[in-house]
Amino acid sequence: MSGKNLKVLITGASGLLGRQIVKYLEDTNLQSKYPVDGVQNYVFECLGLCHSRTKNKLRAVDIKNFDQVDQVIQEFKPNVIIHSAAVKNVESVENDFEAALRLNKDATENLAKIADRLGILFIYISTDYVFDGKNAPYKPNDKPNPLNKYGISKLSGEVVTTEVSKNHCIVRVPVLYGFTEPQNYGESAINVLIGNVRKQAPIKVDHQQTRYPTHCLDVSRFLTRLIIKYFEENGSEPNQVKGIFHCSGLESFTKYEICGIMAEFYNIPNEFIQPDLTTDFSLRPKNAQLDITDSYNLLNFKPVMIFKPSLKECLENFV
Ligand SMILES: NC(=O)c1ccc[n+]([C@@H]2O[C@H](COP(=O)([O-])OP(=O)(O)OC[C@H]3O[C@@H](n4cnc5c(N)ncnc54)[C@H](OP(=O)(O)O)[C@@H]3O)[C@@H](O)[C@H]2O)c1
Repeated sequence: MSGKNLKVLITGASGLLGRQIVKYLEDTNLQSKYPVDGVQNYVFECLGLCHSRTKNKLRAVDIKNFDQVDQVIQEFKPNVIIHSAAVKNVESVENDFEAALRLNKDATENLAKIADRLGILFIYISTDYVFDGKNAPYKPNDKPNPLNKYGISKLSGEVVTTEVSKNHCIVRVPVLYGFTEPQNYGESAINVLIGNVRKQAPIKVDHQQTRYPTHCLDVSRFLTRLIIKYFEENGSEPNQVKGIFHCSGLESFTKYEICGIMAEFYNIPNEFIQPDLTTDFSLRPKNAQLDITDSYNLLNFKPVMIFKPSLKECLENFV
């Protein structure tokens, strides 16, 4: 292996996205199946942080604790922090907003402050739920207007990131799918739908909100490309690699349509699944499509994961 060494610290590395980011960065050192431009010039050294799911090489740190975070960052001396840890469950945030703010806002502020003090590139993972879904597609600088407390908490994380850290990127993503932990497909709001299909019992599934499911591998490729571009451009004026970026899959579906696709994969009769056209989903955006044009053009980035075959691969362990 040869190339410029970059140390990357990833929070939430035991979670759905963080796990894939660490794997992708480590795989790129050994030649990834899905490379991005310029990757051959870098070698990535990762440190993944977890909280309760202590496994493999992950380091358990409560990122709400400033001193613990400061210590681990000073020891590892990363060039980049990717901050993926968050409370992401909409209902949990509605039920305990203060607890969600402590992680989604206050811990983000801790990390962003330390990153700024030490001159580290700080990448904050955010969400399409910062938008109200009434006027899609949304450009990165369109005005956010979250409909629920999860969206408000993630937007607060964006605000503190912008206020506190000079070298920051905010990367918004929509609903994610990918390789979940064995038998824990509830980790993804997409993968989990297989439970509805397999039950073969009458159920209504949302057919009102348009989603852009995005594979964690493509988000990991996007982040890798962003880091490479940042280090290629760093020092040049004006440095375009900062501010808000959008990363999204290109195909759209409702959850009802996704259940139909899953049923088709395994020849499961889907007459039990009915489209839900009446439930009040007003706490969630109807269509928060992220406009990816500027971000993808700047980074010369293209997603590679096609929804149907990629989803099938992700579900193979379960059916
Ligand atoms: N999943 C989606 O569909 C989606 C959509 C849009 C945006 N996002 C954003 O994408 C990011 C990643 O989401 P995800 O789906 O990967 O989340 P996830 O699977 O729920 O993982 C959350 C991570 O946060 C860690 N964590 C929780 N409390 C912590 C604490 N006090 N200190 C340190 N770490 C803590 C968890 O660690 P332990 O498990 O070890 O406790 C876990 O690694 C989040 O910022 C989320 O807002 C996700």
